[in-house]
Amino acid sequence: MIDAEHLTVQFGERRALDDVSLHVEPGELVGIVGVAASGKTTLLKTLCLLVRPDQGRVRIGAGASASSMAMLRRPSDQTDPSDPTDRSDGIAGDAPDGSAAPLLDLTTLSARDLAAVRARFGFSFQNLALFDQLTAEENVSFALVRRGMADADARLRARAQLKAVGLESAAEKLPHELSGGMRRRLALARAMVARPEVGLYDDPFVGLDPVACARIARFIAREHREVGGVTLVAAGDPAPLFAVATRLVLLEEGSIAADLPPDEFARAADPAVARYLGRSRAA
Ligand SMILES: Nc1ncnc2c1ncn2[C@@H]1O[C@H](COP(=O)(O)OP(=O)(O)OP(=O)(O)O)[C@@H](O)[C@H]1O
Ligand SMILES: [Mg+2]
Repeated sequence: MIDAEHLTVQFGERRALDDVSLHVEPGELVGIVGVAASGKTTLLKTLCLLVRPDQGRVRIGAGASASSMAMLRRPSDQTDPSDPTDRSDGIAGDAPDGSAAPLLDLTTLSARDLAAVRARFGFSFQNLALFDQLTAEENVSFALVRRGMADADARLRARAQLKAVGLESAAEKLPHELSGGMRRRLALARAMVARPEVGLYDDPFVGLDPVACARIARFIAREHREVGGVTLVAAGDPAPLFAVATRLVLLEEGSIAADLPPDEFARAADPAVARYLGRSRAA
């Protein structure tokens, strides 16, 4: 679960996010859509505190898959039982009304605790950020080795993940030897391989033809179903998300202008949605 309240992000004169609140339950696959510069990337980065909000807070559920993370975690990341202030397990949090499971407020964490909690996130960047000198397989296995998995196990798991995205035969290739669509699938494979509770995927459809977009969307949806966590996918063009998203959230100049199920979104009953769909279809 992820719960963002009143997020505001200011870059100099520019307010990239303006009082954004968003609650996403496990099992939801939410599309974050909007025109260029509407704040999609900033929202995804703020949700995992790669961008620190000027106002507001981001809370996540206290770790349904804490046991699977323990398996992946480096020994050095583990809680030191002799240190009562150590919260690196990411479990400590507040339960303000004492009812629901405790939530962890990311905006209050130290850099060290935040680094540990970020292991529960998968992020694929709009510019991909692949490692140019590493093969496709190494790009994927790196994400597991970093979390403490033995090299040989990580390679096996990376191979299986590459197969799942149709890149089996490209395992030994370097990123520059792959097509644009293959690189996007590789970045997604890397972001998803550790089975993140919260997957944040920043416009994986850019520059791809409709067939490739649909394929990527199906892959994201399949992984999402298997993990059962929270998935947010940013996209300038909403079309690939209609078939897979549970909700589409429209950003307009840093604010949420609509939050609708895909069928209602596609019908464009809401004026902000109609405006946006008119623009994105004309583009
Ligand atoms: N690090 C930064 N410093 C200054 N301004 C920024 C920074 N990051 C984003 N912005 C500004 O914040 C606004 C929102 O940018 P953002 O990248 O979140 O939009 P976006 O919806 O992801 O756009 P796109 O569809 O082009 O990817 C833009 O006006 C952008 O110029
Ligand atoms: Mg962006």
